[in-house]
Amino acid sequence: MQIIKKEILVQAPDVIIKRIEVLSPLIAKAAQPGQFVVVMVSELGERIPLTIVDRDIKNGAITLIFQEVGLTTKLLGKMNAGNSLYALAGPLGHATEIKNYGKLILVGGGVGIAEIYPAAKAFKEAGNHITAILGARNKDLLILEQELKASSNELHITTDDGSYGRKGFVTDILENLLTYSSQLTAYSLIYAVGPIPMMKEVSRVANNFKIKTIVSLNPLMVDGTGMCGCCRVTVSNKTKFSCVDGPEFDGAQVDWDELTQRNMAYLDKERHICSIINLVPCHPERAHSLRHPE
Ligand code: FAD
Ligand code: FES
Ligand code: MG
Repeated sequence: MQIIKKEILVQAPDVIIKRIEVLSPLIAKAAQPGQFVVVMVSELGERIPLTIVDRDIKNGAITLIFQEVGLTTKLLGKMNAGNSLYALAGPLGHATEIKNYGKLILVGGGVGIAEIYPAAKAFKEAGNHITAILGARNKDLLILEQELKASSNELHITTDDGSYGRKGFVTDILENLLTYSSQLTAYSLIYAVGPIPMMKEVSRVANNFKIKTIVSLNPLMVDGTGMCGCCRVTVSNKTKFSCVDGPEFDGAQVDWDELTQRNMAYLDKERHICSIINLVPCHPERAHSLRHPE
């Protein structure tokens, strides 16, 4: 559980995203795209889920990419190469179903781009034609452009302010692609990870074109093994535990409003903890409804 490499991917005034490589040979050996680990930074700290972005079986290491949004991600951000995490559990959750679907669109928003990356690589290896759409608030916050370029056949970028790629949202490009795809070039599946509003909108747009969207959900998680019930979500009117039944679900069937509300449950306390330990900037309010705040 020793950190062997640490890198800052984004250091903007209000957004910090870091990449770490952590020694964990057994998790590295078993991890599949779509799975996550639960991390305890210190003995008295909380547990947080983070997606396994990459693995290096030879060196027994996994890669995690995280945005510093509150106490635990900030403490993790303070760890350096040579330090060890207190605990790491995984790989958890179901792996992404990788097969040859034909033509796929992968949509990543903010730090969610890191999470579509392992799926993009695996889908490409399985022979799919990949169109990736990446979205960020502005150019400085965009991550893994080169990596996604290498793992896709077509890459589109949007920024909210137009500082890079096309000005607008990922759904503008998605709608455009779906509108102009003929039956011959039709897309079979959309895979989206990002802020809740983004995943909800991607699912809505794709559903209008009768295309299925797989989303990776971001409810609060504690144990990550189906014991606490904290991560329950409603999908197809049934209660599911995101950690063991997901984290990937059919976006058209998710109760997005409930997920948004549940993720805000501890907002006041998260804000309070940030302020008493004086870790600034700290943005739980921005992260409350999003796993991937930017
Ligand atoms: P806090 O101030 O405690 O919380 C900020 C916000 O983060 C909360 O409002 C809530 O929306 C969310 N959050 C807080 N605690 C948890 C928790 N225990 N479980 C889930 N969400 C929580 N983030 C990344 O940056 N990179 C990833 O690869 C990544 N992968 C994830 C995979 C899964 C399956 C899930 C469920 C979440 C993932 N997240 C990822 C989100 C990450 O877990 C939260 O950003 C982190 O827990 C925030 O903790 P904090 O103490 O720093 O912030
Ligand atoms: Fe406890 Fe899913 S995190 S049941
Ligand atoms: Mg926290």
